[in-house]
Amino acid sequence: MSRYAHLTGWGMAVPDRVLTNHEIEQMVDTNDEWIIARTGIRERRIADKSDTTASLAAKAALRALQGTDVKAREIDLIIVATSSPEHIFPSTASLVQDRIGATEAGAFDLSAACTGFIFALNMAAQAIRSGSLNRALVIGSETLSRMVNWEDRGTAILFGDGAGAFLLEGRDWPGGVMSCVMRSDGSGGDLLSVPAGGSFMPTSLETLQKKLHLIQMDGREVFRFATRVMASATREVVELAGMSLEDVDLVIPHQANKRIIEAAARGLKLPLDRFALNIDRYGNTSTASIPIAFCEAFEQGRTRAGDRLVLVGFGAGLTWGALTLQLTEPERVVTPVERRRWWVFAVLARLRSVLRRVGRRLESWIFRARAKPE
Ligand code: ACO
Repeated sequence: MSRYAHLTGWGMAVPDRVLTNHEIEQMVDTNDEWIIARTGIRERRIADKSDTTASLAAKAALRALQGTDVKAREIDLIIVATSSPEHIFPSTASLVQDRIGATEAGAFDLSAACTGFIFALNMAAQAIRSGSLNRALVIGSETLSRMVNWEDRGTAILFGDGAGAFLLEGRDWPGGVMSCVMRSDGSGGDLLSVPAGGSFMPTSLETLQKKLHLIQMDGREVFRFATRVMASATREVVELAGMSLEDVDLVIPHQANKRIIEAAARGLKLPLDRFALNIDRYGNTSTASIPIAFCEAFEQGRTRAGDRLVLVGFGAGLTWGALTLQLTEPERVVTPVERRRWWVFAVLARLRSVLRRVGRRLESWIFRARAKPE
């Protein structure tokens, strides 16, 4: 019997702090009119000390579960797509697993820059379709503001922080993820990178002084590449799904620059109102931008059960990809009381995590005491 990976829950989380273009005017030589005209961005959210990539991811994940009857311990897999992981290791996904109490889940991070959410969604969907697992949380989460050079006007204006999460579940009837295109071209790796901090160029005083631990970008080249691949990947993925562009109800593009999305719409000969757009309020939240745009489009009634969607993105690597998805009816209505229980689970998960840490210390202490020579 065929298995299908359906989208059954979704959620988003953004920091409270809003950073406007006018505030950026105080940091670098730029102005509100230029930023709006050249990017479409008016403001973005910036994480304060209490927000991290894992905390935003966990909030989005719990909200994705909130609208369903799935409990965190029933999740089989967590993939966090991120370009701003909390550490090289442990993975941010493992931290999320602990925070939400997904005790039965395997967890790992996926690094493909802004395209990461599409790649992660496809990996999770394939695992569900193969029958090897049944429920997966796919999360895009970023605190890129911590990797932005706030003296570089080419990048400081673009990025914002946030997270979005999708819950995929296996079903026996058609729907959910239908087709996917995944591509990369490493020859363009130098166009958008964080040069230092990895094994090639470990962090040193010199890399810090030269700000090589921060984002560097050739904006013009990335722009040219993006306008080329957004339309071609969309066409390709729609064809793979056996559909035509007219069948697509809504395109959820990566929110990097409004002009890139407009160029894709022109290239595809689709009206701009067939694209979800919220870059004006969040800027480029990298892996989080597609799930956040979807959550808002659903909230605003721009998409509903039965709709066929295209998710399309590009990013550093270079990477790009697209995915088609059919939304299906939820199987049962979740009551408002059930919706509010998520914070109870969050508190219980934190408690469980503390107890496990204490238990591990005790075990280690007892083991060492026993192992001591008389
Ligand atoms: N404010 C005012 N002027 C500026 C600014 C600014 N913030 N930035 C550049 N300029 C100036 C330039 O110096 C240049 O001046 P000049 O002609 O006197 O030399 C002029 O504006 C035009 O510069 P361009 O670089 O050609 O500006 P462009 O229209 O390309 O916009 C931008 C720059 C917004 C960065 C654009 O290239 C872009 O969006 N590129 C894509 C970036 C992107 O999508 N990156 C994310 C990828 S996803 C990921 O993996 C993280």
